[in-house]
Amino acid sequence: MKRRSFLGTVASAGASGLLAQQPAGAGKPSLVQTPLVLMAPTEHGLEAAWGVSRLSRGFLEWETEAGTAGVAGMDAFGLSPQGDRVLRVRLDGLPSGTRGRIRARTTAADGESVLSDWKRFRTLDSGASSTRFVMWNDTHVNQETLRQLHAVTPAADFLIWNGDTCNDWVQEDLLIPTLLHPGGCDITQGRPLFLTWGNHDVRGAHAFRMSSVVATPGGRPFYAFRSGPVAVICLHTGEDKPDDHPSFQGRVAFDALRAEQTRWLTEVIRRPELRDAPYRLAFCHIPLRWLDESRQDYATGGFDRHSGRSRAAWHDALVSWKAQAILSGHTHQPAWLPPNGDFPYGQIVGGGPQPARATWTEGVADATQLRLKMSRLNGEVVHEVLLKPLS
Ligand SMILES: [Fe+2]
Repeated sequence: MKRRSFLGTVASAGASGLLAQQPAGAGKPSLVQTPLVLMAPTEHGLEAAWGVSRLSRGFLEWETEAGTAGVAGMDAFGLSPQGDRVLRVRLDGLPSGTRGRIRARTTAADGESVLSDWKRFRTLDSGASSTRFVMWNDTHVNQETLRQLHAVTPAADFLIWNGDTCNDWVQEDLLIPTLLHPGGCDITQGRPLFLTWGNHDVRGAHAFRMSSVVATPGGRPFYAFRSGPVAVICLHTGEDKPDDHPSFQGRVAFDALRAEQTRWLTEVIRRPELRDAPYRLAFCHIPLRWLDESRQDYATGGFDRHSGRSRAAWHDALVSWKAQAILSGHTHQPAWLPPNGDFPYGQIVGGGPQPARATWTEGVADATQLRLKMSRLNGEVVHEVLLKPLS
């Protein structure tokens, strides 16, 4: 665990609350192990998750710029949120586009109590005239890339971390630092996080634990939301080989998940805020289109560069919705495949894990256009795509 870098981050931010309350006893791990990570924003709230070193409970204090305040401290079953690795607390019931600040109280079973610093938040606003969002992908625990991405990426209405956060979950203790303290950074400072699952995020004996750390708007790995003029659908493309591939050791069931997402898609695209949005985007880790779609021999190391299984399942619904672009990662090779006669949606694919290959993509939308700009860490613009609003 990167305790030293976490304390360094807190100290450099000028905070004193956490440091002042660290236990004096040598060798005892800090009760709070990560920054407060703000995830899965909706119009009316968001969820905070943070790592802890031992059994404890937590609640949130919140204040809005409108002058309201309160506490949030109930899990879905009426208990105080509790855990021995991660605490998660959902804040809900706020007006659309609420701006405010939030902090967490953590109390261990042994009585130690830690109050975090205040952290600013904003809920989504479907009625806003504009929005800005950012996408990362395929960071694969590259600490230098994560630090640089964090440094160059501006504040935004949301950040989508579009899969392959890890290099397979082979040990349980990889989950908290990788997901809640990536690169030793407080990545949700100024940009709440949505996460989509990549093929590496579903590998390893401990992959099933990821859903206990990562919040999504509805508790599933597929979801949809609206921010200003942009409607977003996030999907789980599963693995890059068939479910029965021997390397998965019987741990995956993505044909069933894709079919469930197909049924969900046909319903969700009828929701007025998605159906009538001026701009319509989908995010999924494995692209639905690729430059080379030649058939793979899975028995001899082949794998999917594009998810033909997902495309077969979702193409009709995405076309019917008038999706304008799919944003993905996976291939570690930046690309823009414009719409054509077969595919009315374009396909954007971000870069790879090493700093020289990494990219981040920014979307800025207002009434006149949505500009998607993919940049390298040195500022070089790789692709720029302008979308006009749908009528
Ligand atoms: Fe990857």
